[in-house]
Amino acid sequence: MTPSGPSDSPAASVRTRPGHSDPSAPLRCAAVIPAAGRGVRLGPGAPKALRALGGTPMLVHAVRALARARAVSLVVVVGPPGEAAQVRTLLDDHLEHLADDSTEVVVVSGGDTRQDSVRLGLAALPEDVGVVLVHDAARPLVPVDTVEAVAAAVRAGAPAVVPALPVTDTVKQVEPGGEPGGPEPVVATPERAALRAVQTPQGFDRRVLTEAHEKVPAAGEGATDDAGMVERLGVEVVLVPGHEEAFKVTRPLDMVLAEAVLARRRATDAF
Ligand code: CTP
Ligand code: MG
Repeated sequence: MTPSGPSDSPAASVRTRPGHSDPSAPLRCAAVIPAAGRGVRLGPGAPKALRALGGTPMLVHAVRALARARAVSLVVVVGPPGEAAQVRTLLDDHLEHLADDSTEVVVVSGGDTRQDSVRLGLAALPEDVGVVLVHDAARPLVPVDTVEAVAAAVRAGAPAVVPALPVTDTVKQVEPGGEPGGPEPVVATPERAALRAVQTPQGFDRRVLTEAHEKVPAAGEGATDDAGMVERLGVEVVLVPGHEEAFKVTRPLDMVLAEAVLARRRATDAF
């Protein structure tokens, strides 16, 4: 890891994109990790990304997963507002052992919604980045192969790529705005075979995602899905196979599952 403090200007990074002189060279790929959420649905405690999983903060797992991908040479962590220095220290403490990894890690502060946090992360990208992967800190166990597959599909020319899995539950559409916990009239039952549950990292041509964040207005609590914003520009979004272990830690039971996945990995690695 190459640490750089929150005060470092990422724009001042050395320009490594050979593409300025060699148009055939691959564009530099960066990951933006929104990690500024509180984790309300997980219950009281520290911000979700800073809670421990197998003794290590969830955010550290997520940064490692992205930094391990050969495609990724920069990770921008978007931490809880006002906690950038604490996040920087935490990452320096946990990532120093990956000495063979030359991935640069930058920390910036996030905003009130995920949409704001991603926009602030994008603003910290140096000019030479052409491909961006946006990855939830709340998906700490995403396998590196999933990350590589998304990055490869963008590099192969797709403007927006999303890992996704078939839906296992049948899904009902209801009238919005009912009483919480009260009976909800069903308005439709979409055919399950045509539905997919989307995950992260979602990969984009950097210009396309930046344009989406400039043009798509924030409504309500803001967009929870970057690809959805890109769709609204009329740009084609494609899905690639996701992975069960890229699930999002949202509620307490997800922590139990995440701990079990980690324990299984450790047991497998030991043999
Ligand atoms: N996120 C963010 N900035 C926000 C809100 C969310 O960076 N203002 C990030 C979270 O840290 C998380 C990802 O977006 O990595 C997905 O959001 P979610 O799972 O909803 O996490 P939280 O918002 O933290 O959880 P909750 O909605 O239960 O409070
Ligand atoms: Mg949230």
